Amino acid sequence: MMIFELPKLDYTKSALAPIMSEETLDLHHGKHHQTYITNLNNFIKDTDMSKMTLEEIIINSSKDKAKIGVFNNASQHWNHLLFWKCMKPNGRGAMPSKLEKRIVSDFGSVEDFKKKFIQAGITQFGSGWSWLSIDNGKLVVDKTPNAENTLVHNMKPILGCDLWEHSYYVDYKNRRPEYLENFFEKLINWEFVESNLD
Ligand code: FE2
Repeated sequence: MMIFELPKLDYTKSALAPIMSEETLDLHHGKHHQTYITNLNNFIKDTDMSKMTLEEIIINSSKDKAKIGVFNNASQHWNHLLFWKCMKPNGRGAMPSKLEKRIVSDFGSVEDFKKKFIQAGITQFGSGWSWLSIDNGKLVVDKTPNAENTLVHNMKPILGCDLWEHSYYVDYKNRRPEYLENFFEKLINWEFVESNLD
């Protein structure tokens, strides 16, 4: 039977400071993400879903309103697995060329993509996520509410930014645009994003 576990981060909890503080990562990784995993394991225990992969649980539960609790926790587990990988200490730097070519081809320029991605994050009302996803071979920017991601819209998310207040309130209070700007400019691990193109 499938038991989901909290992954170790690829960096120390203080490595993203001051862009994202140790206090934020302690709470976000150690408490919020852990809670989604604990809830998910409790939901699927002794059910058919305990034999499914995480992606199968997400797709299956997204189609059934009675399974909203499973969906929320499974999807949030998946979203956070991606989110931790999307960041690294001293992120951004030069965008790797294969990814840059795809972004320029689908958005016009890196600057246009950045504007779209940040705008999606700013305009998501309440909790949610902003995404860069592959939709039928094309890169697209999207936003989703709460636990939802673009997997349930038949896309492949390759970059996600957590817009829940638990991700930025300790460090930025209500200043979500500043959090998004800093996330984009100083935290994104573009090599990881590029590796998701395949
Ligand atoms: Fe989160």
